[in-house]
Amino acid sequence: MDIETLYALRSSSGLPSHPAIFLILLVLTWALHMIAVHVMLGSTALALTGAFSSNAHGRRLAGPMLDTAKVAVSIAIVIGVAPLLFVQVIYDPFWYVSNVLSARWAIAFIVVLLVAYWAMYHHYFVGKDGGSATSRWSLALSLALLLAAGFIMHALASQALRPELWMAWYAPEGHLETAGSGIHEFNLGRFLFFIVLAAPVTGAWLLGCRRYLACREQSDAPYLEWIASLGNKLMTGGGFAALICYAAWMATLPDSAAGFPVSLWSIVANASILLLIVTPALFRSASGSYAPFATATGAVLLIAIAREALRHRILFGTHGYELSTYAINLDWYSNALFCLTFAGVGGFAIAYSVAISWEAGKTPGIYTASPRVDRLGGFALAALLVWIAQYFFVGFLVMAR
Ligand code: HEM
Repeated sequence: MDIETLYALRSSSGLPSHPAIFLILLVLTWALHMIAVHVMLGSTALALTGAFSSNAHGRRLAGPMLDTAKVAVSIAIVIGVAPLLFVQVIYDPFWYVSNVLSARWAIAFIVVLLVAYWAMYHHYFVGKDGGSATSRWSLALSLALLLAAGFIMHALASQALRPELWMAWYAPEGHLETAGSGIHEFNLGRFLFFIVLAAPVTGAWLLGCRRYLACREQSDAPYLEWIASLGNKLMTGGGFAALICYAAWMATLPDSAAGFPVSLWSIVANASILLLIVTPALFRSASGSYAPFATATGAVLLIAIAREALRHRILFGTHGYELSTYAINLDWYSNALFCLTFAGVGGFAIAYSVAISWEAGKTPGIYTASPRVDRLGGFALAALLVWIAQYFFVGFLVMAR
């Protein structure tokens, strides 16, 4: 695909702000999306293995892991919207072509997610006390469908990186293929790498859980020790598995990414995986620690930057696509509204939800919110009301003009 055609596919209304801002937000929010995806996949897998296991600790952990998975699915989906918006804004020529070429899969993605969510809740409601055989299988179905949703995302991201093949996919041997029913490109090493990373991230999450539960379940030392040892094993073993998948991905990169495996960012990605492997040895603490999860978050962020560097290597390095030439139609109102909504409405709402769950989880018996958390809830509500008021105010102003 020649560069003029790629530029012609850009939105004619331009960008409301500099592309670098969207690029940074894309990487940041995608890293957050992946952390939620990893915790979601890991906790679902632990809930599933616990449901089928005869190990008492494993069966016990299955309950809290299912609770974690339910919340993590929602967070993964909600946070996934942010990179979806940013990728559409700055990489629209690539993202939309890829989606149109596999339109049926892009639409099926929603249905797959709906059924996955439903199947998880089926297990939650029907299988609360250990679970019937059917409900356990519905959890297995949920995990399989979540992986399928991830695979669709992976295929869409991969196809977007192969503009040189689009015409061959769209009009094979000159015949138009408009059904949008094919998956044209995927890389198993890359897909497995992003999935397998769920093991070290969930391991780090478990080490945090062990620390969190230490104050509440002191009498439960053997169970807490078991959680910590599982967390350590997942971090180290899962890290090694991720390293192998990363090598498989790098070994099968297309020619358009030549040189990337030995680039600085690829070395940073390798170092991040090694960091995950050695984290349990770095933070050995008898009562667990939150530091491994903070480290895992940093490692995923670095991997997200490396992933973006690969996109830059292919789209700019090989195809000559320059993000900086995107026309800008600076729109202060929408920029300010975005930032204030993110920080004000989202910030207070998330801080309130996290604070109340944090305190409630640490309190044995009935929990009553502290005055500080109560105040935070008030701020969250006030921010939402101000947002709604400004929405109608500006709307009326525009209509009155
Ligand atoms: C809940 C199941 C999901 C899983 C397991 C999942 C997993 C993944 C994986 C593995 C990737 C990396 C693909 C690659 O680079 O090869 C990815 C990318 C992405 N996902 Fe998700 N995802 C899920 C749901 C969602 C949802 C609901 C959204 C949006 C609402 C979303 C938005 C995105 C976006 C925008 C990208 C990056 C595309 C790009 O940079 O080109 N994901 N996801």
